[in-house]
Amino acid sequence: MKEKRSQFGTKLGVIMVTAGSAVGLGNIWRFPYEVGANGGGAFVLLYLIFVFFVGLPVICGEFILGKRSRSGVRGAFEKLHKSRFWGSVGYISILAAVLIMGFYSVVASWTMEYIVQSVEGFSGLSSPEDFHDRFELLTATPVRPVVWTSLFLLLNYLILIRGVEKGIEKVSNLMMPLLFILLIAFSVNSLLLPGAGEGLRFLFHPDFSKLTGEVVLRALGQAFFSLSLGMGCLVTYSSYFKPETPLMRTGISIAVLDTFVAVMAGVMIFPAVFTYGQEPAAGPRLVFEVLPMVFSNMPSGSIWSLVFFVLLFLAALTSIISVSEIIIAYLMDDFGMSRFKACTVHFVISLVFGVVCALSFSSLSDFKIFGFNVFDLFDYVSSNILMPLGGMLLSIFVGWVIKRSVVKEELLAGTSKRGVYRVLATVMGFCLRYVAPVAIAIVMLNCLKGS
Ligand code: TRP
Repeated sequence: MKEKRSQFGTKLGVIMVTAGSAVGLGNIWRFPYEVGANGGGAFVLLYLIFVFFVGLPVICGEFILGKRSRSGVRGAFEKLHKSRFWGSVGYISILAAVLIMGFYSVVASWTMEYIVQSVEGFSGLSSPEDFHDRFELLTATPVRPVVWTSLFLLLNYLILIRGVEKGIEKVSNLMMPLLFILLIAFSVNSLLLPGAGEGLRFLFHPDFSKLTGEVVLRALGQAFFSLSLGMGCLVTYSSYFKPETPLMRTGISIAVLDTFVAVMAGVMIFPAVFTYGQEPAAGPRLVFEVLPMVFSNMPSGSIWSLVFFVLLFLAALTSIISVSEIIIAYLMDDFGMSRFKACTVHFVISLVFGVVCALSFSSLSDFKIFGFNVFDLFDYVSSNILMPLGGMLLSIFVGWVIKRSVVKEELLAGTSKRGVYRVLATVMGFCLRYVAPVAIAIVMLNCLKGS
């Protein structure tokens, strides 16, 4: 017999869990390096526009789909509209989830390695080359990354088997407040550094000459990645919402909290980077090479380093849980597996993908597809292709296939101030029908043309 569908316990829990999904490596690791590599302020501005005019409506779209169908992403479309095509759209999301599991857990494994390194202190390292070599050494050897990745996935598994309310919600309620406290402490410390002015200018002053088609696509990809959109993560979570959970309010909370954390991550990183004369465009290595070097120059640097990597680790854990839940809900809904069995199957699959990604810098480094190693390929394909595509199809589905009255009803459920929310619901509906699909299509086509 099928297990009864789980539900989240409290309203605050719902916000913690969904924000826990959104706030992750995407905010603290990826956002700063994308800003750094794509020219600073102009990228940030574009990102904000995408978050509120495309991201927020798609969040609401995902919520409507999950809450109405009470199903994971694969079955959700089919439940609301019987058709072969829509029934198979969810598979894009499942594929994206599996790819993300792979590379995300590897980055998380680096944070675990750097927690240990911070405790040991980065003694004997001083020049940028030293820190570069250290990172290289860690990733280019097969054993340690594989061990850390497996440990991370095991921890994830142990939380997931405890269930939606007792596992996911409890852990998020504990970790998210801790994450906010650490983040604020860190940002205040950064603002006191001498390079704070220069760092903030880089982050907030838009230089539009830096905008290219590729930069626009990357800003959109980043908005999707950071808000956990386009692969049914929020569809899955909202299938555990209670009937009275207010969708728009929850959606706005996620968008605001997630943006706040990303901007704060910029505030904490760029002043430090400029104070110690480092390169903001260092790419994915920014937080693993540049920051440890910055820390080692700071007073009480090893403590700040420890704080930073613990922060990153917590953020990664609550996010990977949400990616996992997409796959687990699919296994439970479509194959009737028990939660325990679904978690175990998921653990094995993610271990395989995680280990392959971990090895893509060492044993498998010569294995390239379109010039990407496995890690970069998974990242690029999932964030820049599958997620925008999934988001576009989803907004078309909710905007055009589902009845408008259903969309309105779901958007307004559980809200009291009907006036404001009525207007907002109309705006959301409009964005879902026109703005989101068109914007995503233009950006994706532009990129395909340019490549
Ligand atoms: N949003 C998370 C981050 O910023 C990553 C993430 C979690 C995600 N779940 C997702 C991305 C689902 C896309 C889809 O790190």
